[in-house]
Amino acid sequence: MSFRWLPASLLLSAALLLLTALPMLPSAWREALIAAALGSILLAYYFARRISLRCNALRQQVLELNEQRENLELELTRQQRRRLALIDGLPIPLMICDEDAMLRHTNRLALEWFGFRHMTGKSLLALTFSYDLYLLLLKASRRQSTVSAEITLSFPKERHTEATIWYLGEADSHHLFAIALIDKSELLRLEQVRRDFVANVSHEFRTPLASIRSLAETIHDDLDMPLETRQRFLNLIIQEADRLTRIAEDLLTLSRAESMQPVKERFELTPLIQQAVQEMAVEAQRHQVQVFTDLQPNLKLMANRDQILQVVLNLLSNALRYNKPQGSVTVRTYAQDPYAVIEVADTGIGIPSEALPRIFERFYRVDKTRSRESGGTGLGLAIVKHIVESHGGTVEVESEYRVGSVFRVKLPLYQETEQPPTPP
Ligand SMILES: Nc1ncnc2c1ncn2[C@@H]1O[C@H](COP(=O)(O)OP(=O)(O)OP(=O)(O)O)[C@@H](O)[C@H]1O
Ligand SMILES: [Mg+2]
Repeated sequence: MSFRWLPASLLLSAALLLLTALPMLPSAWREALIAAALGSILLAYYFARRISLRCNALRQQVLELNEQRENLELELTRQQRRRLALIDGLPIPLMICDEDAMLRHTNRLALEWFGFRHMTGKSLLALTFSYDLYLLLLKASRRQSTVSAEITLSFPKERHTEATIWYLGEADSHHLFAIALIDKSELLRLEQVRRDFVANVSHEFRTPLASIRSLAETIHDDLDMPLETRQRFLNLIIQEADRLTRIAEDLLTLSRAESMQPVKERFELTPLIQQAVQEMAVEAQRHQVQVFTDLQPNLKLMANRDQILQVVLNLLSNALRYNKPQGSVTVRTYAQDPYAVIEVADTGIGIPSEALPRIFERFYRVDKTRSRESGGTGLGLAIVKHIVESHGGTVEVESEYRVGSVFRVKLPLYQETEQPPTPP
């Protein structure tokens, strides 16, 4: 209102002042006109003041609106950053791309998987080198819905994945899709290990069981069998039964080591090694192998003593069993901070390099016949590896075929700051 009245009142006062300039005007009229002009000037001043107040209020409103807008923008960027941080921190690779397969965002793990530092301007194909994934995106784009499939990626290494692509909506006139990949390689590998293990166990049991059965059948069917042969067959049955017991015991040891947290105590390594060497003395004599020791005193461990003894016994038993007559075995211990190292070196038959990566697998034996003849089950080193790793240690092997092998176990040394376990 004031906007309209201000010019009107100004015009009116100007008109009134002009009229006062007429020469023939009686003085009473002139005075009245001047008074009216002054009144309308006052009115104009009033309207101008109201306009100025209104303008101030409007300016204030504009300032407040500006502040609100800035706050909203800030909140939006914060939200966007939170969303990106959420995507970035996901433990699975996630990519966002449009229907033309151009990438809009990739999280950190996706870049790591495909070995890139950034994805600016890249397409899904250029990042993943997977045509199958691209075809899956086309399928999702056609249906504008969620699709998933098992896809094997071959770049930069082979990965068996479960890929899921879902529609996110529209942005800058493009359809956006999210792509998530779940690595199933480890799961498939474990599944394969489990299948192999079951197959190996049944095979290991079936062989002695079959020979026990055929030996028993022969004794049963042949009533006229000479006593000496019968005795030999019965001895073989006992040997096979012993072998079955050993496999069962080893499997039990392995499963116990896998399922239970080792109960730890503080002990010195030297007496433990001496005990193991003592226990294997008869076996060493039987193989005509000499055992030497070179032990650093005062190496203390916080570990399960029985399990560490088992580790040393298994390594010693191998070093004797796979040795040559008149050969030797040397057990060394020394500190390599923060580890205590136990080395079992032999002058035995050695391990061919192609077999080295496999010897810690369950039931793996380089020479099945030799190991079986000497009563081996192929579980000794699997037990060693499991026990050592569950103690936070490592086991490695160096070997030269027909020359000898060195097995090196590293176990964390007892730190004086460590609290000894409280008795139950
Ligand atoms: N010191 C060694 N020298 C040469 N070969 C070895 C040595 N230690 C292990 N091997 C090879 O590794 C294989 C696996 O050893 P592992 O101790 O697991 O089984 P094993 O000795 O056959 O049976 P057991 O379960 O009775 O120990 C052995 O069969 C043997 O072929
Ligand atoms: Mg062994």
